[in-house]
Amino acid sequence: MKVLGIESSCDETSASVVKDTTEVLSNVVASQDLIHAKFGGVVPELASRRHMEIVLPVIKKALKNASVNAEEIDAVAVTKGPGLIGSLLVGLNVAKSLSYCLKIPLIGVNHLHAHLCAVLLEKAKPSYPCIGMIVSGGHTSLYKIKSPLDIELLGKTRDDAAGEAFDKVSKILGLGYPGGIQIEKIARGVDSSNFDLPRPLTDKTSLDFSFSGLKTAVLNITRKTNDKSSKNKAKIASSFQEACIDTLIHKITVAVRSTDIPRVIVCGGVAANQRLREKLKDSSLENEYEFFIPGKSLCTDNAAMIACAGSLLLNKGLRDNLALNAYANLEI
Ligand code: KG4
Ligand code: ZN
Repeated sequence: MKVLGIESSCDETSASVVKDTTEVLSNVVASQDLIHAKFGGVVPELASRRHMEIVLPVIKKALKNASVNAEEIDAVAVTKGPGLIGSLLVGLNVAKSLSYCLKIPLIGVNHLHAHLCAVLLEKAKPSYPCIGMIVSGGHTSLYKIKSPLDIELLGKTRDDAAGEAFDKVSKILGLGYPGGIQIEKIARGVDSSNFDLPRPLTDKTSLDFSFSGLKTAVLNITRKTNDKSSKNKAKIASSFQEACIDTLIHKITVAVRSTDIPRVIVCGGVAANQRLREKLKDSSLENEYEFFIPGKSLCTDNAAMIACAGSLLLNKGLRDNLALNAYANLEI
């Protein structure tokens, strides 16, 4: 079965063709970074307009790269939420039109569920049950994944998401948007012990997160040091990155211990961070758990993960109809 996936929940327009749930035939991602960079963050109205302009060319390119005609697609899977409502509606309406014209099934996909499925597109696939951690721009959550379609929330952020903290710290330091990659770049190889930053909620057994205090601590240090040199920015960025990653990894170890499940999936945009990937490896060896993490291009938003999650739902016999709606807020 060949499924066309469409993703337009935020500032990436993406289309992908996935065969038999896990074989990626194509995955085209058109980023809007340049459009939003000058505003220091995503401008929802501009995002929806850009999705409108490029969604069809992106789909055409995905079909071409997969060497399939539209008539050879068996179903269409589309992100139904969570995300920016105007952006979601663009993908959703294109998916509905394709489903209607090509007379193929339509399935709406929860973007968070899709992030957790992205790892299934890699060679090394996890067995279940598994702990799942989503670290993205809008979410930071831990789950117990009993099977890819049976997922229970264990904990989530009480305020900012980890990616949001990266983006805000980047803004504080004047490093630009998108923030995560800028912080990673400037912090590479820089000593992280220059500033003593908090590891929020790590003294508790709770699996919730909180990153707004860490961001405020960075703001205070930036004001106090009053040094706008790249060297000082790099020291602050490195100390922040380390504090954030230490916190995420600590929570993983607590989840592994408390559930007695020695397998972990880490996904979402922040999972593309190289320092996180290194520290995760060290922690997995020390604490004896296996970890599964998608390749970097499957960590950030993409339609292959949407097609994969959609295929799982379709295989279960689930279908949506043309009344499918978009949801700004949606939990797993
Ligand atoms: O999953 P994603 O592409 O979109 C959402 O669903 O939110 O995640 C985007 C987030 C942004 O906050 C971005 O700054 C962060 O992931 N991010 C990173 C890196 N690449 C993207 N954070 C840290 N290091 C990175 N290399
Ligand atoms: Zn995402």
